[in-house]
Amino acid sequence: MKLTRQDFPQDFVFGAATAAYQIEGHSFGGAGSTHWDTFSATPGNVVGCENGAIACDHYHRMDADLDLLRNAGMDAYRFSTSWARVLPEGRGTPNQEGLDFYDRLVDGCLARGLKPFQTLYHWEMPSALADLGGWTNPDVADWMADYAEVITRRIGDRVHSIATLNEPWCVSYLSHFLGHHAPGQRDIRATARAMHHVNLAHGRTMTRLRDLGQDNCGIVLNFEATEPASDSAADRAAAATQDATHNRWFIEAVTRGNYPQEALAGLEPHMPQGWQDHMREISQPIDFLGVNYYTRGLIGAAEDGAPWPGTRQIAGPLPKTQMDWEIYPEGLHRTLTRMTRDYVGNLPIFVTENGMAWPEEPDHADDARTDFIDRHLQAMHGAVNDGVNLQGFFYWSLLDNYEWAFGYEKRFGLVHVDFDTLDRTPKSSYHALKSAIARQDHS
Ligand code: NOJ
Repeated sequence: MKLTRQDFPQDFVFGAATAAYQIEGHSFGGAGSTHWDTFSATPGNVVGCENGAIACDHYHRMDADLDLLRNAGMDAYRFSTSWARVLPEGRGTPNQEGLDFYDRLVDGCLARGLKPFQTLYHWEMPSALADLGGWTNPDVADWMADYAEVITRRIGDRVHSIATLNEPWCVSYLSHFLGHHAPGQRDIRATARAMHHVNLAHGRTMTRLRDLGQDNCGIVLNFEATEPASDSAADRAAAATQDATHNRWFIEAVTRGNYPQEALAGLEPHMPQGWQDHMREISQPIDFLGVNYYTRGLIGAAEDGAPWPGTRQIAGPLPKTQMDWEIYPEGLHRTLTRMTRDYVGNLPIFVTENGMAWPEEPDHADDARTDFIDRHLQAMHGAVNDGVNLQGFFYWSLLDNYEWAFGYEKRFGLVHVDFDTLDRTPKSSYHALKSAIARQDHS
């Protein structure tokens, strides 16, 4: 790789990220049912009806997985705690075995010199709460804050940072408008409510975390580099609507306490009553912003007369990953400088996810992934030079894992997982990143 640790600011954090349902094995240790268990059991939603029941069996292999992070010379580990593992019914009696597991996980990080970066919600809503409407129910804000309190009372003294939510656009729009993720709804009223309630849950959880004395609290948002498919006025308007709904909705709520007009144009009639009164709680100060970035979105106008949002995704010409996502590092540079300039100023930013899916290669020689990381590190480096207060980068993901609706076929890992034997084998990208981030020994 062209860049090494020495090219980044002194305390820059290098790590890798995972999420509970994608790696742990949800059938182990007394975790309750989640909406991903039922969504995946409903034919047509997930490739091969695959689920996270066993996943990477991280629940039983946690120590070996933490060793992989330490042996790569990483500084930090970004993981999520599973609501239904902590509270199998979503509320009420905690699962002591689940709390013990996260206790060991955090201690295991610290013992290896890894900073624990926790995410509270990475997508698996407990079924008992999904039955009550999940993200469409305004009470979800209090349910989430209560869950946050239970897990924080157990591990909050040792985690380095807490993110409330991972990728609220996916939690709300992708899951309630496009129907691609659990709960698989396609309904604009459910969408508007979910898009507001995720923000409200963020705000309510922040309030609770502050009451508990936590610092280093923030949120992880996903951004795509949205571009119009052509210069026509119609395509530019469509791209603006997409940008408002995907990129601006969440960051503007959190940093400015308002929603962009181009998104409200479609969603406002369906918003929950009194939403304006929540914007102050939603926009309370955060300590860092997590940025997840993967690709660009090339957007054209839908056919004349199409209802909001009136957008159409166009396949771009650039080389693509196994997900068919264009490889576009410039978009990461642009996203980071935009965040700094328009929204967060000097607030610390972490790239909490960036990575690529790539099929298995002979001998696990995944040069394409090494090149992808290298080019995105260059984009981050450029952003730092342009004044972005970027403090760290987490590769997605440490392990090949459960890629949601795509099941186990799409492989994002630095480490190969054989899903028959569950054996782990570091790929060449793991070794390349390890060399790049190795500390120079001055002793
Ligand atoms: C974003 C999500 O946070 C993660 O769960 C997912 O696996 C990756 N992107 C790749 O799609």
